[in-house]
Amino acid sequence: MYNEIDLDKIDVTLEPPTEEPARQYYFMAKCREWVRVFEQKNGCFPTASIQTFGCQMNAKDSEKIAGIIKKIGFAVIEEESADFVLYNTCTVRDNANQRVYGRLGLMNSMKKKNPNKKVALCGCMMQEPSVIEKIQKSYSFVDLIFGTHNIYKFAELFFTMYQSERMVIDIWKESDKIVEDLPAERKYPFKSGVNIMYGCNNFCSYCIVPYVRGRERSRNPRDIIREIERLVSEGVVEVMLLGQNVNSYGKNLEEPISFAQLLQEVEQIEGLERIRFMTSHPKDLSDDLIEVMKNSKKICRHLHLPLQAGSTRILKAMNRSYTKEQYLALAHKIRQEIPDISLTTDIIVGFPGETAEDVEETIAVVRKVQYDNAFTFIYSKRTGTPAAAMPNPTSDEEIKANFDRLLKVVQETARSRVGRLKGEVHRVLVEEINEHDASLVTGRLSNNTIVHFKGEPSLIGTLVDVKLTEAHGFYYIGEQVALQ
Ligand code: 5AD
Ligand code: SF4
Repeated sequence: MYNEIDLDKIDVTLEPPTEEPARQYYFMAKCREWVRVFEQKNGCFPTASIQTFGCQMNAKDSEKIAGIIKKIGFAVIEEESADFVLYNTCTVRDNANQRVYGRLGLMNSMKKKNPNKKVALCGCMMQEPSVIEKIQKSYSFVDLIFGTHNIYKFAELFFTMYQSERMVIDIWKESDKIVEDLPAERKYPFKSGVNIMYGCNNFCSYCIVPYVRGRERSRNPRDIIREIERLVSEGVVEVMLLGQNVNSYGKNLEEPISFAQLLQEVEQIEGLERIRFMTSHPKDLSDDLIEVMKNSKKICRHLHLPLQAGSTRILKAMNRSYTKEQYLALAHKIRQEIPDISLTTDIIVGFPGETAEDVEETIAVVRKVQYDNAFTFIYSKRTGTPAAAMPNPTSDEEIKANFDRLLKVVQETARSRVGRLKGEVHRVLVEEINEHDASLVTGRLSNNTIVHFKGEPSLIGTLVDVKLTEAHGFYYIGEQVALQ
């Protein structure tokens, strides 16, 4: 529908419309004029490179920006030698920030060689005032900065940047606006992320996300269904429903609806084969959701259920709203109801005041739950969060030792869990040609485990039955049994 809007039919001699998304299409048309002039002058289209840091939300935002850039007429390329380079940043841990500063250093010297090159920054890191100050002071060559709330305005900002000699900065503290029907460029033709909500109201004491992504806002279920139906008509077979806390989806809508109800509606969409979602907070994972997952033919057998810590004292200081016992009871219930499900988690080590005994409790939970995989992080102090003001008497060496002990157990349990399907036949969604051996293709099981097997590139995007012949730690080698 919107991808078919013909920019050439928009009269750019008129004043820009005030309503959205019409206003953005007007600016896309303006930018397209600029691209034509560029093409005449240089004999080629301008190029753009989008570099994404962080989570699936950011990946999805980058697809939206790429959609607009392509519509304008830029060629999107991987290399940072492009005429326009955008960094979509993450600030969940400090190392994500440091990586961006490193890359900006490189851009400075590239810009000196090519003064027409434009550099832009967006995403979570830009919502922090101290970051903006630092960029203005030390990276004054940057041309455009915007945040997480005004991505839909990208065409307008892009146009303003090319008109301006100075750094353009547009950061909003909050937004209750959700603009539908803008173009998006998908990385994979057969699978896609779909935002169902934005922001987060949980305020875990270590986490910066509520400050940089704002309050919880759910998309209207009809808009979500319409988007998925369109994706399916374009060849998508798997969707990943995205939200910081999908279990509280729909609570603030005029006509409230639960996440479990939304899933039931998505399940009805004909032609859609697989449904995934990210991320669940254990505190509001309902019995209804477990029931819906259990009875579903399409919802994947995978649940990412962040634990963060296994000590109730630390969980309380983290403001997680559950105890160790409540988490264990929930994990037990899920495993009982859906025995073939794979559970994965996130764990932080080194939260202020966490002792070796606390980490032993976390390790005990890992042993009990038997995660299929766990992402382990060393705590990173984020300015402005409550935890940043908490004293931490534990030394870096102790934290590292605690982290290593945990990681060892995580790897052992994951290895033993993943191998359990060896010898069985399971359905794989083929995603790509194997990175190391082009005679193999790589795909995923419903439970998210990776499988490599001999196959043609034409299998990409299809569901194939594969016998899992060898288990290798975190992945399987298999043999195709029959086409679907
Ligand atoms: N330090 C370390 N890890 C963090 N996470 C979030 N905030 C921090 C922090 N300040 C981790 C959590 C979350 C994942 C996305 O990142 O485990 O689930
Ligand atoms: Fe990083 Fe969090 Fe922003 Fe995702 S939402 S990009 S993890 S800070």
